[in-house]
Amino acid sequence: MRLDAACALATGKGRKECRDAIRRGAVSVDGIVEKKADRTVTEGQRVVWSGEELDLREHLYFMLCKPDGLVCTTEDLPESVLTLFPPKYRKRLFCVGRLDKDTTGLLLLTDDGAFDHHLMSPKHHAEKEYVVTLARPLSASDVESLQGGMTLENGETTLPCRVIPEGETTCRIVLREGKYHQVKRMFAAVSNRVIALRRVRIGSLDLDPTLADGQWRELTEEEVLLLSEKKE
Ligand code: URA
Repeated sequence: MRLDAACALATGKGRKECRDAIRRGAVSVDGIVEKKADRTVTEGQRVVWSGEELDLREHLYFMLCKPDGLVCTTEDLPESVLTLFPPKYRKRLFCVGRLDKDTTGLLLLTDDGAFDHHLMSPKHHAEKEYVVTLARPLSASDVESLQGGMTLENGETTLPCRVIPEGETTCRIVLREGKYHQVKRMFAAVSNRVIALRRVRIGSLDLDPTLADGQWRELTEEEVLLLSEKKE
């Protein structure tokens, strides 16, 4: 890859800005200042821009244990989940799907549009599992209504899903779709209210139990491959 392209990939800045910085002497390769924007660099080389080492990998994949109170946005806002990541990643990453501001748990972030598209595509049907805490007890007939596929307040219909009661006011719900505020709206449709919602699984990937709210880690190559698998 050309040095200016590598800098653009790693920083999210435009090629011209990168070329200018290289010509100014702001970029070094393996410890030596490099002013030639068209020279080639490989992933194994150490490229430093104004003191910060760049990550030359083509794509990045992270699992975040989303805390309450942050929002899924790439806008440069103090309440964005991206503030939890170092600046070198912030410009590159976006959220795979969305969780509400008050929803916690498993959130994937990447810069790989094809990975995002695959996981979000209705064709792929990646399961999403949530732990739900409710304001009122859940009855057996509520479970039946939720599982069978239901009509929401605006007339939208949901696909059949699985509901696994755990306590009087707690359950798990496993969905194969992701409508806006879907879990909250489904429980509202059986006259209940979600008071806490945590996503604990997407497809084959469980939320890493060693991550506290607000912590993240990179996905392993195996996890990325499993999530990218096509289902029949
Ligand atoms: N369903 C919701 O209602 N909220 C979320 O954040 C995710 C699913």
